[in-house]
Amino acid sequence: MGVDKLFEIKSLSKSFIKGKTEVSIFSNLNMDINQGDFLAIMGPSGSGKTTLLNLIGGIDKPTQGTVLYRGRQYHDTTEAELSAWRAQHVGFVFQSFNLMPMLSAAGNVELPLLLRQLTRSQRREKVMAALELVGLVDRKGHKPNEMSGGQNQRVAVARAIVGDPDILLCDEPTGNLDRETATQVLDILRLLNQEFKKTIIMVTHDPLAAQYAKHRVELDKGMIVNKEVVVAKDAVVTQEATAIKEDTAGMSGELVAEKGVVT
Ligand SMILES: Nc1ncnc2c1ncn2[C@@H]1O[C@H](COP(=O)(O)OP(=O)(O)OP(=O)(O)O)[C@@H](O)[C@H]1O
Ligand SMILES: [Mg+2]
Repeated sequence: MGVDKLFEIKSLSKSFIKGKTEVSIFSNLNMDINQGDFLAIMGPSGSGKTTLLNLIGGIDKPTQGTVLYRGRQYHDTTEAELSAWRAQHVGFVFQSFNLMPMLSAAGNVELPLLLRQLTRSQRREKVMAALELVGLVDRKGHKPNEMSGGQNQRVAVARAIVGDPDILLCDEPTGNLDRETATQVLDILRLLNQEFKKTIIMVTHDPLAAQYAKHRVELDKGMIVNKEVVVAKDAVVTQEATAIKEDTAGMSGELVAEKGVVT
């Protein structure tokens, strides 16, 4: 049974010009991300995790190499086309929520829809469906400073999914949350992955968040230094073992170690 590659990262190099010096973040990074994955990207501060998310999400462009989305080189286009691609396919969730303070929960969730050709009532229907999914219909009129951190992050998740993207990119989504509210947010991400078939790519330092992922990769100094397949506790081991073999067979890159992890 084949798995669909959603992203193929090939010989990716990224560097920034800082004054007169060029700072290289990645050189020759190779990595595939399969459709339907819940991938955790881990690694020390400065290892390039956010840069990688920005490249995948089309916020930033590679210096060299390619990133393919369903076999297509989507960076190689105008800013307008790239931003249209982003609006259709990608939802972002950030550590610090990035909500507009003067807008209500519903107003924040509605924002990405304002760029689309939708009537007010169509927008409202989508906003309510997204708020329902994150369990916050009763807070629709609340502004960010009238909600808890966990509620704000759930609003941010609703905003990320309201346009029905196929990919969610999350940068430390639980970084500002306590365990209980982190669990609520992670349960929603798991639901979005399992039931709504969203591919989730999540940067995290949080061991709790990493437990929700299906795969983990660890970056260090712009290289993949470890790759793990996360095996659920109740999984049938022989089937999982086969899946690991199939999955890792398709992975390429600077793989130093790979192992199944029972959580
Ligand atoms: N726009 C930029 N201009 C110059 N250097 C940059 C830029 N963006 C990132 N960098 C550098 O790239 C490196 C990787 O940054 P990045 O933000 O991707 O790290 P990170 O792994 O997300 O770290 P953290 O865990 O602290 O968020 C850092 O050394 C950073 O200073
Ligand atoms: Mg970062």
